[in-house]
Amino acid sequence: TRVLVLNGPNLGRLGVREPEIYGHASMADLEVQAGAWGSGLGMSVEVRQTDDESELVGWLHEAVDTRAHVVLNPAAFTHYSYALRDAAAQVTTSGLLLVEVHLSNPAARESFRHYSVVAGIATGTVAGFGFDSYRLALQALAGKLKG
Ligand code: DQA
Repeated sequence: TRVLVLNGPNLGRLGVREPEIYGHASMADLEVQAGAWGSGLGMSVEVRQTDDESELVGWLHEAVDTRAHVVLNPAAFTHYSYALRDAAAQVTTSGLLLVEVHLSNPAARESFRHYSVVAGIATGTVAGFGFDSYRLALQALAGKLKG
């Protein structure tokens, strides 16, 4: 089972960016951890990050075309990118799983973070647990794939 763990804008700044909210670990640390969690679940996990909306949209198309499941932290795109939502919708409507994840709990933060344009087409959402949000998402994927 292949899983793309896709991360949106400013998540390449993890460790430096508002550590009181997002923690002290970096995207490179997440890559190592997610890889290990994936191996433990018998999955091959690839972690990517971009600040670019079109690149993220392209990776979602790639997931559809190569039949990879997706763990997606859309970062700020969560709250306003209909292009990202439409690309993510192609993943779930083609029978693949897509879990929306957030490090923080957007519902407990500023009101502009309360709405996710992605949530309605995701298989499910995990938010508020730091890197553990990704671990839980991978576990949930593995569980759902087992049936
Ligand atoms: C985030 C939450 C978003 O509101 C924010 O724009 C981010 C990160 C999170 O992981 O908590 O960049 O997706």
